[in-house]
Amino acid sequence: MAERINDLNPAPRLLMGPGPINADPRVLRAMSAQLLGQFDPQFRTYMRETSALYRGVFQTQNRWTLLIDGTARSAIEAALASLIEPGDRVLVPVFGRFGHLKVEIAKRCGAEVHAVETDWGTVFPTEILEKEIKRHKPKIVAVSHGDTSTTMAQPLAELGNLCRKNDLLLYVDATATLGGMDLPTDAWQLDVVSAGLQKCLGGPSGSAPLTLNERAEKLISRRRHTEQGLKDKNQEEGEGSVIRSNYFDLAMIMDYWSDKALNHHTEATSMLYAARECARILLQEGLAKAFARHALASRALCRGIEAMGLKLFGDPKHKMPNVTGVHIPQGVDGEKVRRALLADFNIEIGTSFGPLHGRVWRIGTMGYNAREDAVLVTLGALETVLSGEKFKLSRGMAVDAALAVYRDGVRG
Ligand SMILES: Cc1ncc(COP(=O)(O)O)c(C=O)c1O
Repeated sequence: MAERINDLNPAPRLLMGPGPINADPRVLRAMSAQLLGQFDPQFRTYMRETSALYRGVFQTQNRWTLLIDGTARSAIEAALASLIEPGDRVLVPVFGRFGHLKVEIAKRCGAEVHAVETDWGTVFPTEILEKEIKRHKPKIVAVSHGDTSTTMAQPLAELGNLCRKNDLLLYVDATATLGGMDLPTDAWQLDVVSAGLQKCLGGPSGSAPLTLNERAEKLISRRRHTEQGLKDKNQEEGEGSVIRSNYFDLAMIMDYWSDKALNHHTEATSMLYAARECARILLQEGLAKAFARHALASRALCRGIEAMGLKLFGDPKHKMPNVTGVHIPQGVDGEKVRRALLADFNIEIGTSFGPLHGRVWRIGTMGYNAREDAVLVTLGALETVLSGEKFKLSRGMAVDAALAVYRDGVRG
């Protein structure tokens, strides 16, 4: 049977959806390096280097800055399973699909969840969140920084301050924004933040960077209960309730990443190589430059989209720079356009979920693909496909408009 299955030869797609995007070739090269055991001194050095690099990426001094082995939601689950004890009150501001995901995970952890919702395409004024905090007196607020499903980013600086003043913990899901938007963890007083590699960090999905501060550590350490087979008399046990997940038990994962090197899972070696390379490349470019590159790509894409006569989705004041929502024009079959882009141009753009399904395309300009050539080629292809769908536009206008932004951006 094996001889009937061809060698792996994925099409050379340009991934311009809301993630995953094309990985930086340097990341793919790092992943092809030979494996090491997780207690090999060289590998422990790579782990320490990875922690140090992600302190830079998260803009934090947090000692506990590590990787969860899994896609971005594995870190969301690790954070919530380790922080939430059954019956804890958790407030979740929902401004898109990934708010609902946090509601669902928090409920599974046994929390009394209070979800507050706003229309997709908008975010919350801080006063609303302040009122909800006063009303529900949660122990934890769990919020997305950017929600790729709506392309919106929730302002967090004031919310961080508010949570600290009320002595509650703030968990932030920065899957969609880390590396593409400013997110100073310490300055904004964010207690736990997590992400994934497959968006602005320019890697594959499968590793989830996470950072937590001393306030979160204190709570989690109270719940430290070491696996029976690893216990010794020097191991301090907490008096708090057992964390309900073994795989996502941050107390054990901290022990594993610490100099104690207490065994837990078998590290996903190639994913750690990838995560380390993503952070190294980003910091070598410089955070400010990477944020500016994403902002420029977003401006160019938006001008191009508007020059085509299409409308952008959502509140422009809160739009993420790495993903852009575009209203599908009346009379155009959105899925047919996506299929043509893929078949004729090898370009993938995104569809939408829930209330936006069939109404909005999502075009990503993130990580390795937040580049001038990727933006111009996508606009050119979209113009051609839309013309074929009898959508009236002046061919060439979109690419020219985007090019003009790049020329100004480069000069400026
Ligand atoms: C804000 C946000 N949170 C969580 C996720 C889930 O990530 P994953 O599919 O890597 O588990 C995504 C994916 O798009 C996301 O955008």
